[in-house]
Amino acid sequence: MEISNPTPKSSILIPPSEVRGITILDRDTFKKDIEVPSVKIPVEDIKEAIKVLKPCFLKMPNFQPVQSEGEQKRVILNPDLFDEKLPYLQTILQRFKLNSVTWTKMSLTYDNWTSDNIFKAVLPPDSTGNVSSFSIVGHIIHVNLKPDLMEYKHLIGQVLLDKYSNIKTVVNKVNIIDSEFRNFNLELLAGDPNYEVMVKENNCQYAFDFSKVFWNPRLVNEHNEIIKKVNSHDFVYDVFAGVGPFAVPLSKKKCQVHANDLNPDSFKWLKHNAKLNKVTEYLHPYNLDGKEFIQTVVKKGIIEIWNNEENEERRVHVLMNLPASALEFLEAFKGLLVGEDVQKIGEMPVVYCYFFKRKDEDILDITGKYFDAEVQKALQITEVRLVAPNKTMMRITYKIPKSVLFKVSDNGDGPPAKRLKQDNESTE
Ligand SMILES: C[S@@+](CC[C@H](N)C(=O)[O-])C[C@H]1O[C@@H](n2cnc3c(N)ncnc32)[C@H](O)[C@@H]1O
Repeated sequence: MEISNPTPKSSILIPPSEVRGITILDRDTFKKDIEVPSVKIPVEDIKEAIKVLKPCFLKMPNFQPVQSEGEQKRVILNPDLFDEKLPYLQTILQRFKLNSVTWTKMSLTYDNWTSDNIFKAVLPPDSTGNVSSFSIVGHIIHVNLKPDLMEYKHLIGQVLLDKYSNIKTVVNKVNIIDSEFRNFNLELLAGDPNYEVMVKENNCQYAFDFSKVFWNPRLVNEHNEIIKKVNSHDFVYDVFAGVGPFAVPLSKKKCQVHANDLNPDSFKWLKHNAKLNKVTEYLHPYNLDGKEFIQTVVKKGIIEIWNNEENEERRVHVLMNLPASALEFLEAFKGLLVGEDVQKIGEMPVVYCYFFKRKDEDILDITGKYFDAEVQKALQITEVRLVAPNKTMMRITYKIPKSVLFKVSDNGDGPPAKRLKQDNESTE
């Protein structure tokens, strides 16, 4: 048995160094000739030998490590692992009475590298993490490129398009979401300018135009959390419903869901998604401002639900996922039922209201602007997700205090009280 290793190598499985800094993708510049270790295996041993040699295979996209050579097979091994696996290889060579490991020449091309390999080779060191944290929405990849990568944006788009077979469009978020309707400003980097997607989440299907509505695949767990908390046949008021990621699955649970969104495009796709998931009997869509929705649809709904004895076991939930400003909308509940024909006061609605907290902010400073000290003690506050290194999306869950719905205001018939007051009813 003879093992020869001509030159000890560090990683040769990376694209050629000439590609560093290119901003226009020329796939031919990625061609690289390398030498790789390989072993020839007689036909009778192939099955067994391949099994034990698998950990040493050269594994790369579009590359077949087991190749036919007449009656025999040649197994191409990973040169990066060669030194580390040498003792193991020696035992295998002995066991199968194989002659030697030989070093053979082969060419790697653009097709043999992942997008990560390519970005590491091309982009400035330490900037690639920014590209690898992209999101996929249907046939679209969306990246959020930092300014130092903007000169590479078309190359990045083209590489992602090449490397992800189901992707037809690559876009960059131009700004952080700051529009009223929380949709992204998109810039096409590569592929078709077609933003109408179809996605699946929590066993429901959604169609929408990603350039016109809000959709964040990273909210799947939060959507699921809420779906689990709500019982079948409960009543749900989704004040900022988007295209329906809470509303559609809750309708599937046979909840009566009143779902609202001010964005006419979200409203259009919400209705579409109710049909798509066959829940039109349960999902009632609205296209109102959140405040108006609370003061008309939610108000009417609570009165009807409480006035009907059959609804005693059914709870009312109000979802408010607009973290940038949802807390401001709580004002709309103040005095909501004053002077209304409420024959029986049922269980208070549970509100799930989202907000953003910066790293340097104290939660009590935020909630203190909207709730008095007693209510604050009873708020359930949950971290939803880190949206940026210094910014967290949070959820407040609480039962609206009876006093908020029924109290006129602090100063008689003047404007509603500045803070939500709590009576002696407990909040969750
Ligand atoms: C953060 S998204 C949440 C969408 C969906 N509930 C989800 O979880 O993915 C907030 C939604 O509120 C809508 N919106 C913004 N301002 C609004 C307002 N004043 N009244 C009602 N909807 C509003 C936006 O169009 C957007 O669809």
